[in-house]
Amino acid sequence: MNFTTREAYLDELDDELTAHHLRRKGKRFKKKLVRAQTEVPPGKVARFDPVTQLGVETEFNPTFSASKLERAWILEYLGPFYEDHYIADVLRQVKGGKEATVYCCQADEHLGIEFIAAKVYRPKIFRTLKNDADYRQGRVMYDEENQVLRGRREKLAIRKRSEYGQHLLHDAWLANEYQFLLALHAAGADVPKPIAQGNNTILMEYLGDATMPAPMLNTVELSRDEARALFDRVMRNVELMLRHNCVHADLSAFNILYWDGDIRIIDLPQAVNPYVNPKAFQMFERDVTRVCQYFHRYGIDANPRQLAREIWRRNVRRDSSEVFL
Ligand SMILES: Nc1ncnc2c1ncn2[C@@H]1O[C@H](COP(=O)(O)OP(=O)(O)O)[C@@H](O)[C@H]1O
Ligand SMILES: [Mg+2]
Repeated sequence: MNFTTREAYLDELDDELTAHHLRRKGKRFKKKLVRAQTEVPPGKVARFDPVTQLGVETEFNPTFSASKLERAWILEYLGPFYEDHYIADVLRQVKGGKEATVYCCQADEHLGIEFIAAKVYRPKIFRTLKNDADYRQGRVMYDEENQVLRGRREKLAIRKRSEYGQHLLHDAWLANEYQFLLALHAAGADVPKPIAQGNNTILMEYLGDATMPAPMLNTVELSRDEARALFDRVMRNVELMLRHNCVHADLSAFNILYWDGDIRIIDLPQAVNPYVNPKAFQMFERDVTRVCQYFHRYGIDANPRQLAREIWRRNVRRDSSEVFL
């Protein structure tokens, strides 16, 4: 599949999810759709065989029965992880969204875990990326290989929002999530353990079991006692994250998964560093406010503005915090 047809097929994939588009485009869309469907790659991979130490050509044939277009997407982005023995199968889609689709995968046996969550970013994310400029301020940008972006050409491309610049932004957005997951997991925060990154995708610990993925906290009924304990735990995480230079910046009960009394804070591509982003305190205060609002229904009374200031003062060095407070 060459680059142009691949782009075309990704276009279709995008359109496929937009019923409105489907109706509007009519015949022209159908023609393109047929073209894209006939170009689904076969899923051949050269899988490394640990016994013979050779790459063996084999088929990657995931169990999850997706539409043809989605299947092509899965083969392209998750195939390399099958090849490299991270995943053994793709079992089902956990959730599809505008920015990313998350799949539950069977982990390769050598990893010693049963499942892996694969968050596959939609390649056109850069077109739907809301106002990401606020989040990017002062941020060190990484490319797909996790190398720091320094070049003048790159910076100019980003400023001008050329196609190349948008690709860079897209990769940097993903890399930002992975970098924060690595740092926060190492610091002991309740985030999914990161496993690998590449091909538009982040592999991480899966929360849930064979029958269902962990629900988001906002859909769970808690007892008052449990709510109190979870509130404390979320706030401990918020503080720990801040101490490790991270403000989530989109924290709410929608981005906290709950499973059997355990939680994971997810969805960090927009996270910012409190020392470099001038709006970090506002974002932090918004995070704390959303958490307090959610727990309010369980009779937990907190003053989010005061709480945010206290935690910030305790953890962000004064010389820099004075600038923002
Ligand atoms: N590690 C995981 N384990 C189980 N489910 C997950 C995991 N990560 C994400 N999900 C599911 O996928 C959904 C989307 O993931 P998220 O990172 O929040 O992306 P976004 O909200 O930007 O689409 C989550 O709401 C959750 O239901
Ligand atoms: Mg989310």
